[in-house]
Amino acid sequence: MSIDFQTLHKVNEGKTKIIYENPEDASTVFMLFKDDITAGDGVKHDVIEGKAHVDWQTNRDIFEYLNRKGLPTHYVSSPEDRVSIVKKLDFKINLEVVTRRVAAGSILKWGKFTEGTRFDPLITQFHYKDDALHDPMLDETYIDYMIQAKGSTEYQEMREINAQVFEILEDAFAHFKIQLVDFKLEYGLIDGKVTLIDEITGGSFRLWPYAKEKPDLNQANVLAELDPKGRLDKDTYRMGGDLSTVKSKFDAIAALTAGFKDLP
Ligand SMILES: Nc1ncnc2c1ncn2[C@@H]1O[C@H](COP(=O)(O)OP(=O)(O)OP(=O)(O)O)[C@@H](O)[C@H]1O
Ligand SMILES: [Mg+2]
Repeated sequence: MSIDFQTLHKVNEGKTKIIYENPEDASTVFMLFKDDITAGDGVKHDVIEGKAHVDWQTNRDIFEYLNRKGLPTHYVSSPEDRVSIVKKLDFKINLEVVTRRVAAGSILKWGKFTEGTRFDPLITQFHYKDDALHDPMLDETYIDYMIQAKGSTEYQEMREINAQVFEILEDAFAHFKIQLVDFKLEYGLIDGKVTLIDEITGGSFRLWPYAKEKPDLNQANVLAELDPKGRLDKDTYRMGGDLSTVKSKFDAIAALTAGFKDLP
């Protein structure tokens, strides 16, 4: 099967993917991965040949694993290189839902947290998706208001699904001696249900290898147990790493997640 995208109606094009109508099935769309990589809400931008391919692989292997574990996702299949079929959104929830196990990145600026502080239970934050506003974090009381006053259950469901996905992927990466530090996911409504959408790739999370064979991860700060310099994620790009190093990290992630199909 080879899909001729020239003939298909483009529904939407974002920074890293293009969405096309599926003429054979109105309930699904094609998601085509691009070689583009961006950071800082799109301010930093490059094209890395072959990135679309590895992102597509990573995304496929993670979503197939999540579907196998019974989570509500939009993912259906991956019929050819760089192309996935996903259930079409009825409504996009314009939020980024961030869950954190270990303090890293932007949270260090807000909370005076020391890098490596371990969160147990997990911390989840909601950000309003708007590049021009730099994706501001929503206030907890506003979220409570939406849940209680408006009878909205979506926040609570997203919070629960995010934590479930986190724990499942944290365990999966642990098989490869890697700590899932944090991630950012997106949701929409499909058939009236809160559903995990979009992509999960090297740009969605922080991954730090274990620094030792048997790290002690049950302590207040786990920085000494982990190897942030060996990071396998988009921070390499954010921090100004050269594009071939960035690509090698994304290759390494795809090689890892290829092993998810063999996990129980
Ligand atoms: N199941 C789905 N059905 C329809 N559209 C989807 C689905 N999953 C993701 N999309 C949309 O695909 C578009 C392209 O994704 P991409 O990640 O490239 O966008 P982006 O540049 O990050 O911008 P955005 O802020 O819109 O997410 C996004 O608008 C996203 O919401
Ligand atoms: Mg995106």
